[in-house]
Order: sequence, then structure tokens, then C-alpha cells
Amino acid sequence: MSKSNLKIRFDYNNMMDKFVGKKEGISDVDLANNFEFAKSAYEKFESIRGTGMTGWANLVNYNKEEIDDIVKTAENIRKNYKYFVVLGIGGSALGPIAVFQALCHLHHNDLPDEKRNAPKFYVEDNVDPERMLALLDVIDVKETMFNVITKSGSTSETMTQYLIINDILTKELGDKAKEHIITTTSSSKGNLIKIANKEGYKTFYIPDSVGGRFSELSPVGLLPAAVLGVDIYEFLDGAKYMDELCSSSDYAKNPALASAILSYIALQRGKNISVMMPYADGLKYIADWYCQLWAESIGKEVDKNGKLVFAGQTPVKSLGVTDQHSQVQLYTEGPFDKVTTFLAVDEYRKTVKIPDGCEEIPDVNFLCGHTMNELIQAERVATEYALTVKNRLNRTIYLPILNAFTLGQLLFFFELETAYMGEMLNIDTYNQPGVENGKNATYALLGRNGYEEKRKELENAPKKVDKYII
Ligand code: PA5
Repeated sequence: MSKSNLKIRFDYNNMMDKFVGKKEGISDVDLANNFEFAKSAYEKFESIRGTGMTGWANLVNYNKEEIDDIVKTAENIRKNYKYFVVLGIGGSALGPIAVFQALCHLHHNDLPDEKRNAPKFYVEDNVDPERMLALLDVIDVKETMFNVITKSGSTSETMTQYLIINDILTKELGDKAKEHIITTTSSSKGNLIKIANKEGYKTFYIPDSVGGRFSELSPVGLLPAAVLGVDIYEFLDGAKYMDELCSSSDYAKNPALASAILSYIALQRGKNISVMMPYADGLKYIADWYCQLWAESIGKEVDKNGKLVFAGQTPVKSLGVTDQHSQVQLYTEGPFDKVTTFLAVDEYRKTVKIPDGCEEIPDVNFLCGHTMNELIQAERVATEYALTVKNRLNRTIYLPILNAFTLGQLLFFFELETAYMGEMLNIDTYNQPGVENGKNATYALLGRNGYEEKRKELENAPKKVDKYII
């Protein structure tokens, strides 16, 4: 299929007042009034592209030799290891999880070996002791490659996992332990690079100008994807194609900019919640990935001038059709505080026909002769309609089919939208002081050197009172 047949489409009809009513909807005049504002956000972003923490935007212009090295390493892992385990959290985990779900068999790990063309795949993105032991029950470390991913090289959760796994590997394999660990980290900062250099681990580098939640197109996401058999050149080319589609300062010609200005206007009007609702199980964890990207990037206490702004829009993940039987009641009848983004696929990769049966019960029999594909599409269109007639802002992103190329487009679309939105809100899109504060408090509680002041701060916090615990 040609690029244009694989182009994803952004449909924002149901954000407009013609469809969701004058009171809630955005008019052509509102948009026109924001033309210069959107243009200026685009220009500001373009003027800093590639500098500071915006190196992610240049990952689409990749160096083929670097990608070839990732592919070669992945081929070796595919041939020689039965399990591939990512140790990482946040931006070092959510992208790999999303791509795995999107581009592999939905029960990949449960397939018999002869039907699975890649190692079993696990992402350990927590420090729940039960989960760690559960992992060790289902893998054999001697047949496992562990990919330790941390941009900062110092995240407690990831380093804890590393220490546990390295200890087990060393006890089982001695010197050969190092053949089971690949690190992905900053070349210049943090502790993991020091450990990697000392131990001689194969290492891939995350450019310093690429933050965790924007790192899926770096080795963070590319190595796991390649191990799973994903064509990472196609994935990157999809992202590059989206970059080209978004190369105008006119929102009518730039889908990510249109999305950002609509989000901005909606937010100004009290739409404090952004619901991401894919109608495909393959896209289920894209919603998680999006939630981190939108929440950590846009949720900020101060703007670039230090003024208190408490900016943000709360992202919520939802799944079509599953959550029609859970959250959609709230979305159609609850507060007018949401924008819903549906993710649709034109063509599912499989078709399942609903067989004949229950002839004597017409209320069941009407389904017969249709396909599950028709049913899920009908339910999506019906939910879109149900929201729209209740004057609820919603929009749909259509993927012609879910593959590496369209997924690359989708991720880059959201990254660009987030970058433009950050400029519109005049905030630092790329820091996460709120997360850092929690990280520092953990270090203090566990007695890390240099965090004594923080520990005192925690000790002086108001003590919990028994009367409030019943
Ligand atoms: O987006 C971010 O920068 C964060 O969410 C990080 O991804 C997360 O905290 C993990 O950090 P690191 O990759 O440094 O271990």
C-alpha cells in the first residue's frame, strides 16, 4: 500500500458547534480567531526543534547505521533467547508495552513456540515484590535477555530490578551474566552508564535531548520492537510521514496543530478531562502511553515565566466497546467537562463472521450473517452519535489499518500535539518537577546520601492522626 493509502485521518466534526450545539461546540469563528495563536505556537516549537529537550522531534531523521545496529542486535536476541524482559518504568516502559500490544499477536506469550516468531515478552514496570517473583516463576533467566532502560540511569525502581536480576544471573551464570543484560541509557549521566561501562554490557544510548515520555522512537522503543519482529524502519518512516503532514503553521493543513488548538479552546471552556478511547484491543495501551505523555507534559504548576497557572487536562483511558458498559454512561450524561478522542481502524487485521443460530429468537438472530468487524464499527459509530446528540465534544482518529507505519504516525501525531499545546499554555512541556519530588522523597526515606534535608522535611510533615483512621 502507498503512503497516502496509509495516512491516518483526524476528524473533528464533532468538536464543532454545527454538530454538538452552539453552547458546547467550537465555531469556525472561534477557530479563525485563534489562527494566529496556533500559528505562533507552531512557529515557537519549530524555532526550538532539536534544541533543549526537543531532540525527540529529530528522531525521525535517523541514522541508518544506528538503526541497523539495533536490528542486528535484535536478530541475535530472537535467535538465542526465549524471553525478553524490559526493566524500566514510565517513559522507559509504556511505549514498549503499547507497541507490543499493537503489533504482536494479542496472546503472544501464550502461543505455542512454533507459532510465536519472537521471544516471550515482559515489561516489569513496578516494584511489587509479588510481581517480581511471579516473573521469575515464568521465565528461565538462563534463556532470558534483560533490557534495562532508564534515561536518567538512576530511577530507584529500575535500579532495584537491575540489582535483583543481576544478582540472580551472577549466581546462576557467573561471568556469563553480562551476556544477558543490555542497557539503554544516557551516555553522559546517571549510574547505569557507569555500571554498563564497568561490566561491559552492550549499551544503546538515549540522546540527552530526548525525555522519557518522548523516547519511543529512540532505542528505548526500537530495540524491544525489533526483538518482537516489528519493522522499525517502517515505524520510523510512519512518524516521519506524520512530521511531513504537520509541516504547516496553518491548523487546517496540520492535523496535530488542529488537534492542539481544539484541545486548547476546549480546555479554556472547562473541558478538564481528555478521554482516549480506542476501538481496537491492539490500541489499548496506546491510551496508557498517551496518558503519561499528556499528563506529565501538560500538568504544570507554573508557566515559563514562573507564574502560577496550575495547567493541565486530566487524561483518562477507556476502551471501546468494553467501557461502553462502564464509563460511557458518565460521558453522555455527566458533567460537561470532557473531550473524547476515539481511535478507529478502518480495516481490522482479522475478520470473524457471526454464524447462524438462535433462529427462533429474532433479537439474537439479527446478529447472524454480520461480522464482529461490523459490530465493533457499528458500536463505535453509535457511541460517537450518542455523545454528539448529548452535546459532548468528541473527535476521531482513523487508522486505515494498524501496522508499524500507521502506529509511527499516531505516536508522532500525539507528540506534536503535546508540543504545540505546551507552547500554547506557555509551560515547560519537558520537565516533571512533580515526579522528581516524589522520587527525591523515596531516596530520603530509604536513606540515600545527600537527601538528609528532604528526610527532615518528611519527618516534619504533619503526623497522621488516629481519629481519621476507622
Ligand atoms: O517522562 C519522563 O521523563 C519520566 O516519566 C520517566 O520516563 C520516568 O520517570 C522514568 O525515568 P528514567 O527513564 O530516567 O528511569
